[in-house]
Amino acid sequence: MMLRKSKNIPDGQVFHLDSYRRIEILSEDVVRVVFTGGMEEDPSAAVVGAAATVSNLAADTIEGRLCIHTGKLRIFADPSFHIDFSAADGRILSEEYRGLRVPLKMERSGTEEFAAWEGHDRPVFEAKADYRFQSVRRLHAGDCVYGLGDKAGFLNQRGYAYEMWNTDNADPHNENFRALYKSMPFFLVLGDAGAYGIFLDNHHRTYFDMGKENPDYYVFGCDEGYLDYYFIYGPTLPEILERYTALTGRMPLPPLWTLGYHQSRWGYESKDEIRFIAETMRACQIPCDCIHFDIDYMDHFKVFTWNKERYRDGKKLLADLKSEGFKAVAIIDPGVKAQPGYGVFDEGEHLSYFAKTPEGETYRNAVWPGDAAFPDFGNPSVRAWWGGLHRFLLDMGIDGVWNDMNEPASFHGPLPDDLVFSDEGRRARHADIHNIYGHNMAKSTYEGWKRLSGRRPFVLTRACFCGSQRYTAAWTGDNHSIWSHLRLVIPQLCNLGLSGMAFCGTDVGGFGGDTTPELLTRWVQVGCFSPFFRNHSAKGTRNQEPWQFGESTLAIYRRYVELRYRWIPYLYDQVRLAAQKGWPVMRPLAFHYPSDPQVREINDAFLLGENVLVSPVLEQGARQKLVYLPEGIWYDYWTSAREEGSRWLIREAPLDLCPIYIKSGTILPTWPLRQLIDPLQETELVLEVFGPNASCTHYQDNGETFDYQNDVYNLYRIVADETGAFTVELRQSGYPQYRRVTAGRVVL
Ligand code: GLC
Repeated sequence: MMLRKSKNIPDGQVFHLDSYRRIEILSEDVVRVVFTGGMEEDPSAAVVGAAATVSNLAADTIEGRLCIHTGKLRIFADPSFHIDFSAADGRILSEEYRGLRVPLKMERSGTEEFAAWEGHDRPVFEAKADYRFQSVRRLHAGDCVYGLGDKAGFLNQRGYAYEMWNTDNADPHNENFRALYKSMPFFLVLGDAGAYGIFLDNHHRTYFDMGKENPDYYVFGCDEGYLDYYFIYGPTLPEILERYTALTGRMPLPPLWTLGYHQSRWGYESKDEIRFIAETMRACQIPCDCIHFDIDYMDHFKVFTWNKERYRDGKKLLADLKSEGFKAVAIIDPGVKAQPGYGVFDEGEHLSYFAKTPEGETYRNAVWPGDAAFPDFGNPSVRAWWGGLHRFLLDMGIDGVWNDMNEPASFHGPLPDDLVFSDEGRRARHADIHNIYGHNMAKSTYEGWKRLSGRRPFVLTRACFCGSQRYTAAWTGDNHSIWSHLRLVIPQLCNLGLSGMAFCGTDVGGFGGDTTPELLTRWVQVGCFSPFFRNHSAKGTRNQEPWQFGESTLAIYRRYVELRYRWIPYLYDQVRLAAQKGWPVMRPLAFHYPSDPQVREINDAFLLGENVLVSPVLEQGARQKLVYLPEGIWYDYWTSAREEGSRWLIREAPLDLCPIYIKSGTILPTWPLRQLIDPLQETELVLEVFGPNASCTHYQDNGETFDYQNDVYNLYRIVADETGAFTVELRQSGYPQYRRVTAGRVVL
């Protein structure tokens, strides 16, 4: 049996309970628990971090119970493999639930056929007695559960049950959905004793019942693969994120233009439509950096080809867009049209790079191009080959890649579990690698693009797994133009951020269905603060570019895109923190105010970075918003009014206004308004100072290359006094500096 110990872990930090069970102490606050049941250990797709030496480790056995002290944590393991964690001062953090499992009211009375007759679904949830491997752990009163990727619903996921199985479901997503596109088996529990996180490093199908079966406990487990989880102590959420991303990696700095506004639609069906979009964007003075090319740019949806009729002279089109300051992102799906004579298919066949049936035939299922074969991204040679295919897009003049349908989605029923793929050199079944298919595709795309271009790649994905933040941004897939989906944006993006995916966004305006001017208006007021900011919609729905609904909608839309563009330096500083510490860009209030019980379940407001609180209107017709301000002094961004925190207030919010509050003590670094992002032309930094003794740390680089890794960047520490007068100190200088730093606004 292969033992997959953590990297660099000293033998003295590994405690074997028997030949199948062990506890590894990775650091003072991170502990790995493994129970293989005798199975061979899988390679991890997620973990890249190594263990640290823990100097003050002590262990003893008291009445048959192993007790390990790390200095910060105490870990207890009893002979029946109950594992408990407490803080060094004895406070219990997380303990195995030892009582009887008592499913709450799982019976479903009445004759369900009658409901089914009219077309109602029976909720699929079944309380399942036990998984092959599992941990049942206590929930304490007041515990809130966050994370778990893109699951639809509320910020606090307590009371719901989920499955990790990457799923493309076009129905309107809601809180009863058990699975969506992404599998991120990592959650955080915030309770009165502080917070901890648990990452179940199993990329098979896994299950999470976060107190639905019974509010006294939660269960996570699997029937395939084995139990391999990391307990990550906080006690604060930022510390957990830092430790979790030390383990699974952090987002690399993206090209700066990707923080701009992206316009997309499935489908702009010809080059003329794309040209029209670009021209109108500039004519309407909506700042914009990028246009997305959905599947229609391809020849019959064959990846790495170009539609030479409708998108004739593609290179010229892309060169012209470039000269207008637009970047282009092209969609690439995994399904390769199974058509002999088509180079990508022939080559993949020849090299035996596609998934096979157990009988050894290339497996086919339908996606956009019709019958398609599925590259085996778990094989490093396939990843290198696929990465190299992007030369075609680079040569055309494309700037970034959008990976879609990579759950993988298929139109003729799901891929059978027993299809033959591989997992880093080992034979694997589809069921074994399903959840990391999108992850490995994004990895292949990122690494290929980096190799070919030498520049920072931009990859956007729909499906992913823990650790995908190392390669890709993510969007939340096919939402709908409905108000409940606008309300979903904040919890979904906050939980994605808490799962390590800091660079994320939704389809602004909604993908499916017809948007309304009011919905689009309120959506852009949230979207302009989401790390990835793209308006996208589906074929057959009403067009929803900013100018589609007349002058007044356009004017409001413009106002928020302009705000985004002025705030790019602030946003980039938050992205850099994500790259350095793994902190989300868009954060729930609980991230910084964990001991304030008011904020733990706030679903309709968020923090952008630490000091900007956004509380958008998410209801049709509402013209006022109930806003909660946490402790401290806050300034109304629009009126400069000074507000005391730790209280609720009602803010007037006419259609053109999204309530924004800035914490006293903040300096917002901004740039003058532009129609596109070009760091090379930014010679002036404009500061907005809120409150006395404000400060910020601001980062500047060329926004494009990896030179920053060789210190080609500037880091400014800017400190203002009680009058708002500021001084600028250069902490690092390696890049041409701003010629001027000015105060645009001082609010005291
Ligand atoms: C999927 C994607 C969507 C895209 C469409 C066509 O539905 O989620 O964003 O526009 O496919 O490629």
